[in-house]
Amino acid sequence: MASRGTTFLGIETSCDETAAAVVARLPDGSASIRSDVVFSQVAEHAAYGGVVPEIAARAHVERLDGLIRAALDEAGTDLAGIDAVAVTAGPGLVGGLIVGLMTGKAIAAACGKPLYCINHLEGHALTARLTHALAFPYLLLLVSGGHTQIIAVEGVGRYRRYATTIDDALGEAFDKTAKLLGLPHPGGPAVERAAQNGNAGAVTLPRPMKGEARPDFSFSGLKTAVRQAATERAPLSEGDVADLCAAFQAAVTESVADRVERSLARFRRDHGDTAEPVLVAAGGVAANAALRAALAGLCARHGFAFLAPPARLCTDNAAMIAWAGLERLHAGVGEPCGLSAAPRPRWPLDEESAPVLGSGRKGAKA
Ligand code: KG4
Ligand code: ZN
Repeated sequence: MASRGTTFLGIETSCDETAAAVVARLPDGSASIRSDVVFSQVAEHAAYGGVVPEIAARAHVERLDGLIRAALDEAGTDLAGIDAVAVTAGPGLVGGLIVGLMTGKAIAAACGKPLYCINHLEGHALTARLTHALAFPYLLLLVSGGHTQIIAVEGVGRYRRYATTIDDALGEAFDKTAKLLGLPHPGGPAVERAAQNGNAGAVTLPRPMKGEARPDFSFSGLKTAVRQAATERAPLSEGDVADLCAAFQAAVTESVADRVERSLARFRRDHGDTAEPVLVAAGGVAANAALRAALAGLCARHGFAFLAPPARLCTDNAAMIAWAGLERLHAGVGEPCGLSAAPRPRWPLDEESAPVLGSGRKGAKA
């Protein structure tokens, strides 16, 4: 085990991607992704214009064992060659979490290996170390269908949430806008494609939270504004849809850049001794070229380096879950979980942070 490093099997089933991966941490601390298998359920959910939890859970049940087999085969190993299993225990859709956790427990129990219960957000938070061996601390913008957060990643298990959404996640806003305009699911890529032919100036939309002192995000008002603008123009031509998409994307980009700018300043205050501060963008929405360009420009103006891991590892995958387990083991943070571990549909990464909605629940998005 020592000479070839430590090898984890990762399992991810928290939303609509079923994934398994084998990742090793080599003795010099570097990562080796030996396999990374993802089955996207997009086709299963397409007809419904969004993820249907029951369909997702069933698809995980049907696919997961075959994917684990494929991940082991591709890595040229079997369960005997694995040192431990890391599984996403939350946050996410409970049906899917149960499928992954039960499978992880069964493998761990049958093979006598430790089981690590991983917070999905920690997987995203540590991906830049998997792909780029990035040193702590760094600032992370996580923007996906389920999450919209800015997190200072200070060490393994040390995450400080700077900002979160007070309503919709950013990817959700893209998806709902797409649905409203008759574009296919997932909406993000469809909106981005349509926006290329549109004129952002043709529709006036608000820039939610821009200039506000509190650092958080809000997108539900923007979604309503798009609905109003669309209703005014109905029936919509292809050109109208393109203009609405371009205007939506421009509003989102400006709003996110403003919010991130605020957090860059806070990161400087909190970590003034960091010679070359880095902003990492992750999550499916980080694939958006307009957003990436705006963030890269913002970082250049503020003396931050900008880093976005490859799209495949920015979106949901099991390599990041295996890696988070390896990071925990080697940093000596936390313990393997027992067979009684329960899924946690709501599980904030920064457990100390106050709920954003008064005494309300801290949702997966928050
Ligand atoms: O990280 P991800 O694959 O899954 C989770 O939600 O965890 O993110 C999916 C989200 C969807 O909302 C999708 O519409 C959005 O990312 N997305 C995009 C783009 N590609 C995917 N949003 C904007 N522009 C894109 N190019
Ligand atoms: Zn995710």
